[in-house]
Amino acid sequence: MASYRIRQYREQDYDAVRALFAAGILEHVPAAYRHFLRSARARLWLLLLLVAVRTVAGCWVLGLGAVALALVVTWFLVRSLATTYVSEALSTDLCDVSGSYLRAPDGCFWVAEAEGTVVGMVAVARPQDPADRGAALELKRMSVRKEFRGRGVSKALCGEVLRFAGARRYGAVVLSTSMVQVAAQRLYEGQGFRRVGATSHSLLGSLLCFQIFHYRCDLPGRAAAPPR
Ligand SMILES: CC(C)(COP(=O)(O)OP(=O)(O)OC[C@H]1O[C@@H](n2cnc3c(N)ncnc32)[C@H](O)[C@@H]1OP(=O)(O)O)[C@@H](O)C(=O)NCCC(=O)NCCS
Repeated sequence: MASYRIRQYREQDYDAVRALFAAGILEHVPAAYRHFLRSARARLWLLLLLVAVRTVAGCWVLGLGAVALALVVTWFLVRSLATTYVSEALSTDLCDVSGSYLRAPDGCFWVAEAEGTVVGMVAVARPQDPADRGAALELKRMSVRKEFRGRGVSKALCGEVLRFAGARRYGAVVLSTSMVQVAAQRLYEGQGFRRVGATSHSLLGSLLCFQIFHYRCDLPGRAAAPPR
């Protein structure tokens, strides 16, 4: 397989970057759905639904039909979490990558390129969380094309972000990922990040037991205080 190189984003990468980001998020829908179905809450709801419909309609078949319908509806709800997240990103920062990252203070966007195509991407920006502003930068939009995974592409992209933040005298890099993005969690833990919290993005997310994990990597030799 061809080797890759890391370089800064160019306007010609626009479509590839947006498609790669969307694919990297949407591939986790089945895992998020399985995670919810395995939860005690989902099993309890489905059991209650079965018993309620059986009691009201007096028929087990209708009860089972209601459970099947609930499973289908739940799939679309889980999928909507991912599609909403993707749509928001594509209509905000990823709508104008250069403006959001390359021309923004303390921002940058890199792609991994192989055989003239984009096979990986990552961004860095000032953090969304006001508590981190000035003291840390945020790693965002990490994604690697499936055919190029397991070859160190994301480690190289992560390294760019950590070097970039260190060169600007930031004390840390923060990021968020979801509970079902297990490869990403291992990647970040291997690069020195530690989990510092978990939240739910929305009411729907919390009903579906879907958590966002927050990570932080303190940069050696850097004060956690804001750079001047
Ligand atoms: C997560 C992702 C970026 C990893 O990219 P990659 O280029 O395959 O990762 P690398 O080859 O650089 O591997 C880096 C580390 O990640 C971890 N990792 C990678 N793939 C893994 C997998 N399938 N399972 C568990 N850990 C994995 C390992 O710790 C690995 O280090 P090691 O090789 O020393 O064991 C990639 O799987 C991806 O794009 N996923 C979909 C999008 C996504 O989840 N993005 C994260 C957004 S926060």
